[in-house]
Amino acid sequence: MKVTKAIIPAAGLGTRVLPASKSIPKEMLPIVDKPAIQYIVEEAVQSGITDILIITSRGKSPMEDHFDRTPELEERLLASGKKDLYDQVVDVTKMANIQYIRQKETKGLGHAVWCAKSFVGDDPFAVMYGDDVIISDHPVCGQLCRAYEEFGLAVAGIKEVTEEQILKYSSLRVEPIRENLFKVTDMIEKPKRDQVLSLYSILGRCVLPAKIFSILEHTKPGAGGEIQLTDAMLELAHAEGMIGVDYIGTRYDMGNKLGILQASVEVGLAHPEIGEDFRAYLKELSKSL
Ligand code: UTP
Repeated sequence: MKVTKAIIPAAGLGTRVLPASKSIPKEMLPIVDKPAIQYIVEEAVQSGITDILIITSRGKSPMEDHFDRTPELEERLLASGKKDLYDQVVDVTKMANIQYIRQKETKGLGHAVWCAKSFVGDDPFAVMYGDDVIISDHPVCGQLCRAYEEFGLAVAGIKEVTEEQILKYSSLRVEPIRENLFKVTDMIEKPKRDQVLSLYSILGRCVLPAKIFSILEHTKPGAGGEIQLTDAMLELAHAEGMIGVDYIGTRYDMGNKLGILQASVEVGLAHPEIGEDFRAYLKELSKSL
């Protein structure tokens, strides 16, 4: 079955990037000239997704404004002959059918996904974490959707992380299937050192069947007192199996300060308008480092 729906949980408090995220959602922090959330919506659209639900919360309305029309600005851009910019601001509003729902309390990623129940209905859907921007020539959401369409099982986007990082993420037990595809047989969220199953972690994307909702219904708060999506995914993996895709792409964690800087530098270097000047600037700067 083809995956055409995606949800983007973006209701978190963003405490790791305070004070920047106090009044601006971290998902709206720019990478060169576009907010993080736009890269994610573009990846979804390039992956064949047509309907997107963004899970928001108090103070997150700039995301809705970003994907809405701006008649006054548009008129001004046209009147001053800035057709290129006009196209850019209008195109953003036409990319997909985007809807919004509020998660009224920040009870965790599992709870945020739960808020999408009526949007999802009985269909499989992609979950694209709102603070994970992944740049790839092959849209990563699409890599996962194709695996879902082949195996008919939940799919997790996975990557190996360092021994330090795994303690803050989820750790998976995996068995190879072929190339970058794995069977996921066990997982644990924020493991202690002696609980680490492998350095493979779920990073930024997954595709789930609607039956995850009947699991989330009884999932108890886990690590950090939050309802963890990983706990529900573990139950699903035990019940019917799960596929891991070691995706091709570079992930930038916009929920942490270093990730924001890495994204700006690497996307900046590849940018058609400012890339060359930025490279020259960095080369000069690096002499003094
Ligand atoms: P994170 O745990 O990285 O986001 O969740 P956070 O809670 O904003 O982070 P810190 O620790 O306070 O800095 C991953 C994704 O899930 C969303 C977040 O917005 C982020 O995109 N999320 C998390 C929700 O939508 N609701 C929640 O209750 C928790």
